[in-house]
Amino acid sequence: MKTFYKIFAFTVLALEYYLPLSGLAANPTYNVKSFGAKSDGNSDSSNSFLQAWDVACASTAPATVYVPRGRYFLRGINFSGKSCKNHAINIRIDGTLLAPANYNVVGKLGTWLRFDGVTGVSISGGTLDGKGNALWACKNLGRTCPNGATSLAFYNSKDIVINGLISMNSQMFHIVIYGSQNAKLANVKILAPRSSPNTDGIHVEHSSGVTITNAHIGTGDDCISIGPGTSNLWIEKIACGPGHGVSIGSLGWTQNEAGVKNVTVKAVTFTGTTNGLRIKTWARPSNGFVKDIVYQHVTMANVENPIIIDQNYCPNHQNCPNEASGVQVHGVHYEDIHGTSATQVAVKFDCSKAKPCSGIMMEEVNLSYDNKQRAASTASASCANAGGTSAGVVKPTSCF
Ligand SMILES: *[C@@H]1O[C@H](CO)[C@@H](O)[C@H](O)[C@H]1NC(C)=O
Ligand SMILES: *[C@@H]1O[C@H](CO)[C@@H](O)[C@H](O)[C@H]1NC(C)=O
Repeated sequence: MKTFYKIFAFTVLALEYYLPLSGLAANPTYNVKSFGAKSDGNSDSSNSFLQAWDVACASTAPATVYVPRGRYFLRGINFSGKSCKNHAINIRIDGTLLAPANYNVVGKLGTWLRFDGVTGVSISGGTLDGKGNALWACKNLGRTCPNGATSLAFYNSKDIVINGLISMNSQMFHIVIYGSQNAKLANVKILAPRSSPNTDGIHVEHSSGVTITNAHIGTGDDCISIGPGTSNLWIEKIACGPGHGVSIGSLGWTQNEAGVKNVTVKAVTFTGTTNGLRIKTWARPSNGFVKDIVYQHVTMANVENPIIIDQNYCPNHQNCPNEASGVQVHGVHYEDIHGTSATQVAVKFDCSKAKPCSGIMMEEVNLSYDNKQRAASTASASCANAGGTSAGVVKPTSCF
């Protein structure tokens, strides 16, 4: 009998281990409401969320933190992975999380909802409301205000999934992935007005193996921004607009800066954005680089700068010795890029005189100038310190 129980218990344990989603042993679900969270939109539920997180972390079986429908007011929270035993935590959100409307509460924290050093965390569903209006107004009036908080950030983390999340009205960036490996962001919706300053949609920096697919992003700054030390980034099926496009940069502010390599941007539509595909570097000395970039199957609708490399970024010509960027841009492939430019110069390669761009490849590019005043004006391309090749139809005619 004893032996039987032992074997039986062992089998159940083994099954639980190998089939964590089977009905044999239900994985624990921790409902934030059973930790005291209130869905009235006013009561501070921060501690309840943290308690549910701590219990999920302490569990060794895959666990779910569940946020039912309703509105939950949260101050800044740091979900730390430091003492987390669990590498499979799903945070399932049916409700809306609300940031404090007073930007002084989280505006200096950097991040509103921060995950640090976690492994195997996924966030499914949910709406984040960053309540950014008052801070944008403060910034737009040129008053002295805090920088504001990113709504959701993962720092130094691994194996992250964000699926079906809606982020609206962030104070600063909506979502940041920093110092992390292997993150999948799918079916994310991002909303903020065209006039909201610094509200980048998704920012990736010092991270590798991030994929962003099926996102709808309309915001006041870059839809997706790519910072130093980003590699193996995959971006596919994105609708961007309003916004400032998909930007690599600004890079090259510091001398010893990690480069950006192997970025694919595929099947993206830009509608009424200020930029489409942009690479931007400071006109400052740097050892940084941008290489192995592929842009493919991109549609532009009334975009101010559909294709742009700007290596002469230096507002007010301040802090830019020699006014030349040290960032080497090499191997940028544009393939099947078509649609309309809102300005005459549809393609602009304004590269560094110190480190000219090389290995730019244009293939099947067809951009026309959508001039509201005059019918049929043609788009043009401009090159400075840029070298490359073109193949197939390339309109405007390449300037290499
Ligand atoms: C480039 O990144 C993709 C993921 O975006 C990855 O599958 C591929 O192996 C990487 N290529 C190299 C040469 O590292
Ligand atoms: C380029 O796009 C224009 C506008 O969509 C279209 O009329 C034209 O046929 C295209 N040219 C080529 C060579 O594909």
